[in-house]
Amino acid sequence: MKEYDFVVIGSGIAGLSFALKAARHGSVALITKRKGADTNTAWAQGGIACVTSDEDSFELHVRDTLEAGAGLCDEAVVRTIVTEGPERIRELAELGLHFDEREVEGHREFDLGKEGGHSKRRVLHVRDATGKEIEQTLLREFSRQSSAELFENHVAVDLITAAKLGFATADRCLGVYVLDERTDEVESIRSDRIVLATGGCGKVYLYTTNPDIATGDGVAMAWRAGVEIANMEFIQFHPTCLFHAEAKSFLISEAVRGEGGILRNHRGEDFMKRYDPRGSLAPRDIVARAIDAEIKRSGAKCVFLDITHKSPEFIRERFPHIYETCLRFGVDMSKQAIPVVPAAHYQCGGIKTDVNGATSLSGLYAVGEVACTGMHGANRLASNSLLEGLVVAHRAAVAAVHKRPLGKQNVALPEWRSGNVQDVDELVVIYHNWDEIRRLMWDYVGILRTDKRLQRASARLRNLQREIREFYWNFKVSVDLLELRNLAAVAALIVDSGLCRKESRGLHYTLDYPDRDDRQFKRNTVLSRG
Ligand code: SIN
Repeated sequence: MKEYDFVVIGSGIAGLSFALKAARHGSVALITKRKGADTNTAWAQGGIACVTSDEDSFELHVRDTLEAGAGLCDEAVVRTIVTEGPERIRELAELGLHFDEREVEGHREFDLGKEGGHSKRRVLHVRDATGKEIEQTLLREFSRQSSAELFENHVAVDLITAAKLGFATADRCLGVYVLDERTDEVESIRSDRIVLATGGCGKVYLYTTNPDIATGDGVAMAWRAGVEIANMEFIQFHPTCLFHAEAKSFLISEAVRGEGGILRNHRGEDFMKRYDPRGSLAPRDIVARAIDAEIKRSGAKCVFLDITHKSPEFIRERFPHIYETCLRFGVDMSKQAIPVVPAAHYQCGGIKTDVNGATSLSGLYAVGEVACTGMHGANRLASNSLLEGLVVAHRAAVAAVHKRPLGKQNVALPEWRSGNVQDVDELVVIYHNWDEIRRLMWDYVGILRTDKRLQRASARLRNLQREIREFYWNFKVSVDLLELRNLAAVAALIVDSGLCRKESRGLHYTLDYPDRDDRQFKRNTVLSRG
């Protein structure tokens, strides 16, 4: 049995930042489902929101974050993350990351981007491929650590806890079962400090800006281990995903609207003005709902994002990745408006943690999108998530390093046992259920909700979960089966959380209760098994 001081599951900004810091104090196993760089982080285009300019202030960044969060942010958490941001950005720069700069009156300063809901320019970026640069920088640094090992193509199956083993002690995390895709074997890894950094759950929806790995694994595992999960009803839909039959999940960054891009309907009208005085740069929840309404009203398939009033040179220089990708799909964004639709983008809720990433289970930490720290409340301010990932990962590493280790345990962790049947005919059931979940979530639990739709989704999900459970115990586990099981669990959590909130707030909008009700619902939705 393998044993490490720290096990980190997920190799995006939060997992890697934690791993790099923990590796100075002990052995680290970094488990990742595909390749190291197959993460949500690597797909992030916009950048990192952080106060670095004299025209900005921590106070303004805190205020913008609280306003977007619609009454549910934890102000102390927001303050901590905002004020510790610059120090963490300096560390990234020390690792060799160069954010874009510009020349102003003879000196260089950061070229700051603007996105919806920010009162100032404050988004640090590397053209439109910020996440990719961050990922490469952190992975390069990780590869230099002698005490840290990267396990690619390894999928975490479930947490091993004292309660699951029937110990009469207070519950705590003892290890994790991991499927090695190359050998098809599940092994147990022992560690008393485990970090979930598995990202979000965009794949629970039919249309998403997320990569294929975003199947809600961390939330599902934590849920099965009895850990508290908060605010899963708040799923952020990004207003502008490229609309094209062959383009899968391609985001058109909000930075395009930050640089003056205008949303137009099929008649060419700048329709956002009718919905919000801030027009195309209103906060995401408002823009996504307006596009949804516009599409439903007109019967059109999409709306259009127009930045053709900017020079082709500016567009190619500022948005090289978006420009090239659109061009590959036959859209020259310097000459024509880009067809766009909303798509599931970010999970604002997740495993409930404090600002140090500690969960309700001793020894288990959660960092990044998988966690609900209180930073985002009912709606995340654009580009606040990479910042949260960096700051909380640092704090979690400090906390975990100082946590008194359990020491070598005499109890051996039990070996993995599951069914052995591998019936290819039945694989069709996995794919069918996978598609069914994603479609029903899109149709019934999307941008606009009702109790009736949520109840319908809930009933269908319960049946699917029962079917999946049977499969799980009879068949040999595979990545597809594990992901399906996790997707179903997370989908049910989104629906159940939505049913608890009988009001509209931030990203949760229901036609049955269209108003915000601070008297009854200015609180987090916290669920735990049993
Ligand atoms: C974007 O570039 O629009 C995405 C940024 C974010 O979601 O924070």
